[in-house]
Order: sequence, then structure tokens, then C-alpha cells
Amino acid sequence: MKVTVVSRSGREIVKGGVELNDSATVSDLQEAIHRRTKKYYPSRQRLTLPLQSGTNAKPIVLNPKKTVKDYCDGNSDNLTVVFKDLGPQVFYSTLFFWEYLGPLIIYPIFYYFDVYQYFGYEGKRIIHPVQTYAMYYWCFHYFKRIMETFFVHRFSHATSPLSNVFRNCAYYWSFGSFIAYYVNHPLYTPVSDLQMKIGFGIGLICQIANFYCHILLRNLRSPDGNGGYQIPRGFLFNIVTCANYTTEIYQWLGFNIATQTVAGYVFVAVAAFIMTNWALAKHRRLKKLFDGKEGRPKYPRRWVILPPFI
Ligand SMILES: NC(=O)c1ccc[n+]([C@@H]2O[C@H](COP(=O)([O-])OP(=O)(O)OC[C@H]3O[C@@H](n4cnc5c(N)ncnc54)[C@H](OP(=O)(O)O)[C@@H]3O)[C@@H](O)[C@H]2O)c1
Repeated sequence: MKVTVVSRSGREIVKGGVELNDSATVSDLQEAIHRRTKKYYPSRQRLTLPLQSGTNAKPIVLNPKKTVKDYCDGNSDNLTVVFKDLGPQVFYSTLFFWEYLGPLIIYPIFYYFDVYQYFGYEGKRIIHPVQTYAMYYWCFHYFKRIMETFFVHRFSHATSPLSNVFRNCAYYWSFGSFIAYYVNHPLYTPVSDLQMKIGFGIGLICQIANFYCHILLRNLRSPDGNGGYQIPRGFLFNIVTCANYTTEIYQWLGFNIATQTVAGYVFVAVAAFIMTNWALAKHRRLKKLFDGKEGRPKYPRRWVILPPFI
């Protein structure tokens, strides 16, 4: 069979098209496009079916695991697919590694080194116990995230655009510096001992709960990342769809109760806003996938992210 590969403007991407045998999969087609173009490796490619002119519907994205024949009309031996270059890609683990490495390195620099002399503070810096605990707490969090990235998460999307590495690093690295600057500042005023203990106590419990949520999510998929999206169950997932985000937000709240800086509260507000938007989309997706029709289970009634509000 013959597959014609065109861009969205109708330009032919592979001159003369691609010849495939009848049992070829979309993944084989992507490999063939890569061989012919050299530049566009499979994860860079997004292949869709052409849209009828005048329709506003979303194009159908070709599933690499299906056969090309599955997308042909009737017994036709010809198919036209629309190609989009997704740009350079990186593994999800690479993206996460770089975004978390920054805060893990930057924060201790503000704690251990006398960087404040470059900001005009000449006097000797007295380190309060809360600043020491905060440094360990912070490093533990980002070390845990890197370990979870490599040893816990089972990602379904193999890759992410390279540009996301720069965007995410800008977010995590700059917030990391912002918070580290204020918590380790020579003029920092510690909160009471009791408040510090309550804050770190809440934070630590939530970090452990967050780790357990990640284990429960991991168990929804097979080791190769297959299994799609399932209904998360057990522990806090029986109450809230994105229990991992709930515990993430509360653990940062615990850190802020203990350290009390405006920078820290700005971070938790921005993070909660981002995670709430993602959680709403994930909740919608699960309700759509598990609609209770045609033998599919019905998604149980649950909060989205922050009971009893959302
Ligand atoms: N501080 C911040 O600003 C911030 C922001 C976001 C996240 N975080 C932290 O980073 C962690 C990971 O974030 P994330 O956005 O990657 O979390 P996530 O989307 O919930 O994903 C965690 C892992 O679980 C999988 N998963 C999620 N729901 C699933 C389901 N219903 N069935 C099967 N597998 C499912 C995901 O698969 P896919 O590969 O298919 O997605 C992914 O591999 C969060 O839990 C949180 O602790 C922090």
C-alpha cells in the first residue's frame, strides 16, 4: 500500500510517498518517514488524518500501535496522512531531572556560602536551626522527586518538546533561588519553635503521603508504561482524584508554616494554581473515559484536588 505524507499546507514531506506492506503499523510508517527524511525521528512526528474542508472537528491522531490499514477507507490501498514536526524531543525523565537538579544545587549554595556579601551584607551571618532544617527538608524533597522520576513513575508519553526543559527550568530554578535567598538571608527572623515543628511535621507527613500516592499511580501501569489511564484507588485517591497534587500543595504549605517567607507563599500559590488546572483536566479525562456506558465502569464521585473546595 502507498501512504502520501503531506504537511498541513499540503506540501509533500516524502517525495513519491511511502510504500508499506499491508500489515505495517503506524510505527513502521514513522520509521519509514525517518529513514527517508533523516531529520524527523518517530517521537518528533505527529501524524493525523486529513480534515474535510470546512469542518471544525479535531483531527484524528494516528496511534503508532495500530496498523495503517485501520485508517484506510474500505479496501483502499492509498492513504494520505498529515505530518506535523513536534520539534526536538527529550525523555520525560530528562526533563524532570534537569528541572529538579537546579533547586537541589542552588538552595544549599545560599545556605553554605556567604553569597549575601555580593548583595551588600557584610556582617557575620548567624544560622538559625529553622534554616538548617529547611535546607535538609528542601534537599530531601528534590532528591525524592529525582529518585521518583527514575525509579517510580511509569510515563505514558515517551518524550516532551526540548523547549519545555528551558521553560520548566526557568520556573523551578528561579523560584528555588527566590525562596533560598529569603529563607537563608542574614536578616531572616525565625518563627516560634512550636510553629516550626508544626510546619515541618505537616510537611514531612505530606511528603511521605505524596510518595505513597506516586507508588499507587505507578501500580496502575505495567513496567513498560502500558495500561493507559485507570481509576486511581486506595488511600487518599478514594476521596480526591489528584491526591498526589493535594499532598504536594500541603507539603509546601508545611514548609511555609515553618519558614514563613513571602517568596515561599508566592511559590505555593503559583504551584497550586498550575496543579489545580491540571487536576481539573485529569478529572474531566477520567470522567469521560469511565462514563459507565457500554460496560465501562463509572468514575466514582470524588473531589478534584482540594477538598472541601474543589
Ligand atoms: N511544585 C510544583 O509546581 C509541581 C507541579 C506539578 C507536579 N509536581 C509534583 O510532581 C509530581 C508529578 O507530577 P505530574 O504532573 O507528572 O503528575 P501526574 O500527571 O499525576 O503523573 C504522575 C505519574 O502517574 C501517571 N498517572 C497519573 N494518573 C494516572 C492514571 N489515572 N492512570 C495511570 N497512570 C496515571 C502519570 O502518567 P502520564 O505519563 O500518562 O502522565 C505519571 O507517570 C506531582 O505528583 C507533584 O508531587 C509539583
